Amino acid sequence: MFENTVKWLVFILAIYLAFNVVVSMNTPLTRKTYIVQMDRSAKPGYFTSHLEWYSSKVQSVLSKPEIEGQADEEDRIIYSYETAFHGVAVKLNDEEAERLEEEDGVVALFPETKYQLHTTRSPMFLGLEPEDSTSVWSEKLADHDVIVGVLDTGIFPESESFNDTGMSPVPIHWKGICETGRGFQKHHCNKKIVGARVFYRGYEASTGKINEKNEYKSPRDQDGHGTHTAATVAGSPVRGANLLGYAYGTARGMAPGARIAAYKVCWVGGCFSSDILSAVDRAVADGVNVLSISLGGGVSSYYRDSLSIAAFGSMERGVFVSCSAGNGGPDPASLTNVSPWITTVGASTLDRDFPATVRLGTGRTISGVSLYKGRRILSTRKQYPLVYMGGNSSSLDPSSLCLEGTLNPRVVAGKIVICDRGISPRVQKGQVAKQAGAVGMILANTAANGEELVADCHLLPAVAVGEKEGKLIKSYASASRNATATLAFLVTRLGIRPSPVVAAFSSRGPNLLTLEILKPDIVAPGVNILAAWSGDLGPSSLPTDHRRVKFNILSGTSMSCPHVSGIAALLKARHPEWSPAAIKSALMTTAYVHDNTHHPLKDASVATPSTPFDHGAGHINPMKALDPGLIYDLEPQDYFDFLCTQKLTPTQLKVFGKYANRSCRHSLANPGDLNYPSMSAVFPEDTSIKVLTLHRTVTNVGLPTSTYHVVISPFKGATVKVEPEVLNFTRKNQKLSYRIIFTTKIRQTLPEFGGLVWKDGAHKVRSPIAITWLTPLT
Ligand SMILES: *[C@@H]1O[C@H](CO)[C@@H](O)[C@H](O)[C@H]1NC(C)=O
Ligand SMILES: *[C@@H]1O[C@H](CO)[C@@H](O)[C@H](O)[C@H]1NC(C)=O
Ligand SMILES: *[C@@H]1O[C@H](CO)[C@@H](O)[C@H](O)[C@H]1NC(C)=O
Ligand SMILES: *[C@@H]1O[C@H](CO)[C@@H](O)[C@H](O)[C@H]1NC(C)=O
Ligand SMILES: *[C@@H]1O[C@H](CO)[C@@H](O)[C@H](O)[C@H]1NC(C)=O
Repeated sequence: MFENTVKWLVFILAIYLAFNVVVSMNTPLTRKTYIVQMDRSAKPGYFTSHLEWYSSKVQSVLSKPEIEGQADEEDRIIYSYETAFHGVAVKLNDEEAERLEEEDGVVALFPETKYQLHTTRSPMFLGLEPEDSTSVWSEKLADHDVIVGVLDTGIFPESESFNDTGMSPVPIHWKGICETGRGFQKHHCNKKIVGARVFYRGYEASTGKINEKNEYKSPRDQDGHGTHTAATVAGSPVRGANLLGYAYGTARGMAPGARIAAYKVCWVGGCFSSDILSAVDRAVADGVNVLSISLGGGVSSYYRDSLSIAAFGSMERGVFVSCSAGNGGPDPASLTNVSPWITTVGASTLDRDFPATVRLGTGRTISGVSLYKGRRILSTRKQYPLVYMGGNSSSLDPSSLCLEGTLNPRVVAGKIVICDRGISPRVQKGQVAKQAGAVGMILANTAANGEELVADCHLLPAVAVGEKEGKLIKSYASASRNATATLAFLVTRLGIRPSPVVAAFSSRGPNLLTLEILKPDIVAPGVNILAAWSGDLGPSSLPTDHRRVKFNILSGTSMSCPHVSGIAALLKARHPEWSPAAIKSALMTTAYVHDNTHHPLKDASVATPSTPFDHGAGHINPMKALDPGLIYDLEPQDYFDFLCTQKLTPTQLKVFGKYANRSCRHSLANPGDLNYPSMSAVFPEDTSIKVLTLHRTVTNVGLPTSTYHVVISPFKGATVKVEPEVLNFTRKNQKLSYRIIFTTKIRQTLPEFGGLVWKDGAHKVRSPIAITWLTPLT
């Protein structure tokens, strides 16, 4: 069995590689797209514009045409970047790229990279509702001038969530435009969707021309993802929203008064770095206040990841950038988008689910979840034969996973088939079962997902169950050839305890790029989120799904990121003078780390409480974030000084010195001294180092006269002391500094976690703490 699995995985890998090869062979000859970063200040005076200078640089390195006199018709430069980044995206062969890299004024060359959307496409989950504490207050805020740029698959303008009735005119500071194309006209922009643009030149350069019959070469969203994220950020309230009757209620975004600018960077074939960079550059120039980016991938490095570089430029211009942490959990160190100037958002559950049951032939009832709604309903009185193709519960094979082409209709027709989660999208397993003639499906979690239940909008009656219950059902089905079951679907349930719980799929720390920067920053709802959907695709995203819905239920850190973007827009509206770092600090220091049963937050993938490597500072708490008391503020130069501690070469550092002519102030003794709202103390391999001191400065944004006392949680491996233990503020915006001194008592093999809280009687300003002892070298 195991061997089969391995063979199967090798097969999948082969297909995957083959696919990648096909893609790169589509590229004209051997030209690839490179993002070229230029030193803006090095432009010789005789060039009238930067673009003219960049073009001449590129021209000077191009290879001679093979046939004399044959002009190179192709325009090599596909983008020029002017705002968050300086340079061009250009198509070059390897030799040309090498020559260009040597040219004066060229800071760096980055090969085009593909990024992914951070949603598990099939998972249809449930969502955010008006009873949610965040929506009541959000309407009261005058947040109408805040504009959130959403980099995604575009927008479906007909959705009621983008109705602009009653909104004030478009803010005058807005410089963006409404690009038109197939299915998207000027009138599709309004006072809610204030801008819409497309970025496809990098995509086309890598994969060939867009087939306009299959794909809208316009801001119109035919995927649904971009519509869902944009509506989560700032959707107008829509009464009676639901998915096939599930999650019925009023749907609204986190900042219903904010405006949306849609930047379409993701296409059927993926999202490409040169397009993403161009969109961020454009969005900052257009005047967005917040950027919501639910995608990731790229390179794990500060200076080679275009998103990291572009986000640095945005932060310098005062734009708050929120990104999804990734869906690589529960594996440790699975995070993406970890740069400290980005807010990295993990996912957690809501207190709502969609119960369904499996009633076995033995009379036993097992609970699960489902979003199935359709004509094919199973009789709850009748029992149906149950079949599991995996033999026994300890092995996974292609047919136990219900992969395409693995279910024999002779075996499964008329039966309820048990499918293991993994490898293929969950709704696709349902489709495979349906095509093989199954009457129903039980989708069983494996160890990777534990007891985290994901409700899907399946094409046939289907119930998802946890790992434990799955094992029980599988052993019953394997033991008895006459095993039977039936499925029943119940009504949406609220008040689920415990909640929130950190989602198993949410990417985890530690942050291997810099252990001293604790990531993720925060968690927000990302499981079973209801929001607007594209009319061009069914709720399961399967091409065979002909249902059309106005709202859909999705899960992923793609869904949690726009919650934070929307709440950041509200904070920006209330406190226009706050820097991106101040907004992040307010979100983090007010987050909570207990669930609705007053116990520490749990991790869906294990029985133990979650840690800051899972939930960062904790769960977002919008009301409290409006009035945080103290903030940990940072200027762009502080982040640059942090980069100076990261062993980057002067050339690599230059990547971040674009707006301002920055140089290292050498102000940080330790990267952990960056004035970040969380703290990570890392004891080096050298066991003789027993004391480590971190420094922080807080700014008083509460009452002018206030006295804060510190409280620190106990640690087994170290004593933690704060000096001073009292902070007396006498005026608003006053800054006071303190030190945290970590002294090792007993080195621990695993990191230890805790927290530090400043209290003034009205505010609790909490920072998570991680202490890591690196394994001594032997
Ligand atoms: C927008 O909302 C208003 C008020 O609720 C309603 O009258 C109008 O019909 C809506 N517009 C569209 C295009 O649905
Ligand atoms: C499951 O199958 C494997 C290999 O087919 C076998 O070694 C193992 O004993 C089986 N386990 C159970 C519980 O039947
Ligand atoms: C299964 O059902 C068949 C026919 O209905 C019956 O003959 C057989 O004894 C049953 N086997 C078990 C293990 O219940
Ligand atoms: C940038 O700063 C360095 C050191 O402060 C200085 O030598 C250099 O002339 C500056 N360059 C520009 C273009 O301002
Ligand atoms: C802070 O103020 C309190 C009373 O307001 C005073 O007792 C205390 O000494 C002050 N502490 C410091 C460090 O200034």
